[in-house]
Amino acid sequence: MGIFAKKRVSDIEENQGQLQRCLTAFDVTLLGIGAIIGAGIFVVTGVVAATHAGPAIVVSYVIAGLACIFVALSYAELAASIGGCGSAYGYAYAGLGEIIAWIIGWDLLLEYGLGIATVSIGWSGYVENAFEAVGIHLPQSLVNSPAEGGYIDLPAVGIVMLLSLLLCMGVRESTRINSLVVGIKLLAIAIFISIAVFHVDMNNWQVFMPFGWASTVQGAALVFFAYIGFDAVSCAAEETINPQRNLPIGIISSLLVCTLVYVIVSALLTLVVPYNTLDAKSPVAEVLLSLHHPFAAGMISAGAIAGLTTVLYVLYYGLSRIFLAISRDGLLPKRFAKLHPRTKTPVPVILVSGVIMALAAGLTPIGELAELVNIGTLAAFILVCGGVISLRITNPSMPRPFRLRFHPFIPVMGIVFCSVLMCSLPAATWIRFIVWMIIGLGVYAMYGYKHSNARALEGIRKKDGA
Ligand code: ALA
Repeated sequence: MGIFAKKRVSDIEENQGQLQRCLTAFDVTLLGIGAIIGAGIFVVTGVVAATHAGPAIVVSYVIAGLACIFVALSYAELAASIGGCGSAYGYAYAGLGEIIAWIIGWDLLLEYGLGIATVSIGWSGYVENAFEAVGIHLPQSLVNSPAEGGYIDLPAVGIVMLLSLLLCMGVRESTRINSLVVGIKLLAIAIFISIAVFHVDMNNWQVFMPFGWASTVQGAALVFFAYIGFDAVSCAAEETINPQRNLPIGIISSLLVCTLVYVIVSALLTLVVPYNTLDAKSPVAEVLLSLHHPFAAGMISAGAIAGLTTVLYVLYYGLSRIFLAISRDGLLPKRFAKLHPRTKTPVPVILVSGVIMALAAGLTPIGELAELVNIGTLAAFILVCGGVISLRITNPSMPRPFRLRFHPFIPVMGIVFCSVLMCSLPAATWIRFIVWMIIGLGVYAMYGYKHSNARALEGIRKKDGA
């Protein structure tokens, strides 16, 4: 084992007593479903069906789902054998060394931070609609950022701050609330399915792939957003009971449930109405309105608000744990790595990241950068699959309670699928992503390199040896 791997293991051991182990396989599965089903299915599906895939949106969902299943299996092997709350950052630290770990950690901070800021703006839009529906008109200056002609997007700021308080309270308490809200969104989806299934018109699938294969794959790169979040579950390794068993179960079962839901919902949407009518802000609710089911449409809006809330919650949870893991290792200031003595939650990390994301969501046009979330996540996924292959070579005897079969087929397929999806994203997204990574390398050179625990330890050992 190399110095970085040893340091990582000793840090995890040292800190293991601190976060509280309280999550079962069922809790972890609900955490996964909470993180996954949200803006993707309730918003992005309609736009992608209308502009990129047509009824073949189902194929887009299958392609993106396959990519995620290969990656989820790879995550499961690493989560079971390495664990730790830092997720892919921690696995990369053990398997690929500090600099790659930093790159992946920086990338994950982008994925979660930007994901939270953009989903909170979507959440604010749904809440504004809900108020409109009951005749209350919120002042436009308080629901729009300065770039949109207002002062501040107050609901977006409010939800981020509210969730930060919830996360500070403790994981057991906040997970209970998560389970309840996941129930509401699954109920909303069940209502949609049970109504839509009686209005299927096969004529709507007569032209199944109107934009061709290339466009359908581009559609997959866009609906990939709908799957983001299953990876956040691996951050719960230090808070899960028997993580070697329960974490793989939670990651894989939540992803399978969501893939099934997405395929069914997207098939029904395009079977019930012509695909070119789906380019709407809340396509699922609008299809129900067009079928004269206003009450069910209202339930869908409630389900969407619930869905977006749990996505925000789990992504925020993941962000705080990765931030904590990076700070523990000294690559970001250590003062962030403190846990509250009573709630055992990383309060400084939660509050600092909450304020930054709330300000970004409320005051800047950050929603325009949403595609960066996809590219950042895909890059992290490729590194995770690479980590599985690399650790099998460099550390073949490491205990692997969940050992992938057909190695290296699964991680290689994960890399291939994610690379194809990344290449389907626009050039502007690539440029922004490269700029973010260059900033990250600058931060590492100026701070992390000098303050790294592992590097300090290496220095002491060299001195002792000399
Ligand atoms: N998968 C999450 C969503 O669809 C990010 O909102």
